[in-house]
Amino acid sequence: MSVTIKNEGEIELMREAGRILASVHQNLGREIKPGMSTLDVDRLGEEMIRSYGCEPSFKNYCGYPASICVSVNEEVVHGIPRADHILQEGDIVSLDAGVIYKGYHSDAARTVGVGEISREAQWLIERTRLSFFQGMKKAVAGNHLFDISGAIGDFAESFGYGVVRDLVGHGIGSNLHEEPEIPNFRIRWPHRGIKLRPGMTLAVEPMINMGSPEVLWLDDEWTVVTEDLSLSAHYENTILITDGKPEILSLTEDEKQAGFLELF
Ligand code: MF3
Ligand code: CO
Repeated sequence: MSVTIKNEGEIELMREAGRILASVHQNLGREIKPGMSTLDVDRLGEEMIRSYGCEPSFKNYCGYPASICVSVNEEVVHGIPRADHILQEGDIVSLDAGVIYKGYHSDAARTVGVGEISREAQWLIERTRLSFFQGMKKAVAGNHLFDISGAIGDFAESFGYGVVRDLVGHGIGSNLHEEPEIPNFRIRWPHRGIKLRPGMTLAVEPMINMGSPEVLWLDDEWTVVTEDLSLSAHYENTILITDGKPEILSLTEDEKQAGFLELF
């Protein structure tokens, strides 16, 4: 399958999927407290997704056993929720969720603090979010895909962070994962990636480590951790390439208005 261009009807469904996912993240993020298990987080998230009449995209996807990927501290992505993994004050937790609305997916991730967290952790989370928006400045029709990748990676690396290379973003639509793959680091000329065209829908998802970019897979075959056990943050949205600025489908109205797009 090649990179698909969505029609207006498909785009409207992806907008609704994105709106729903944005509010799932907003509501779930507010519920994160010390003493909860990562399984509690998954149950709550799944309930929220279903309350909107959506299906969780991740449940049983390639055998993944939960609805929300809950990745704590040095866990980068794909943490498997567990009743015996209790969130502690000072932890950071990456929440990755996907919803299916009338056959169309939206995929987004946020990293949030549990209670009070260190300044270094706050900076990592905020700069990971900002790296995504640096990418968005390049997510314009006529540019090439790896312009986005380079802008994300250069920004994150300017703080000395390690940009995960072994995992990438992806196209999205009636499948959770579609072409193309979207790296989060600068790719050397002459490779530019595909040309961006209106109607492409992409999940852009920087995964940024406080230390080394190297990651390992745990024996559960899902959980990805930093090799040096440094903290890691994740920020992801589903976006639409348009004739102008990208439309970021998985933000709340408040997020869109509260200066999230001041970069433009
Ligand atoms: N955002 C992640 C991704 O794009 C979520 C997939 S987790 C899985 O790969 F369980 F669904 F695989
Ligand atoms: Co994704």
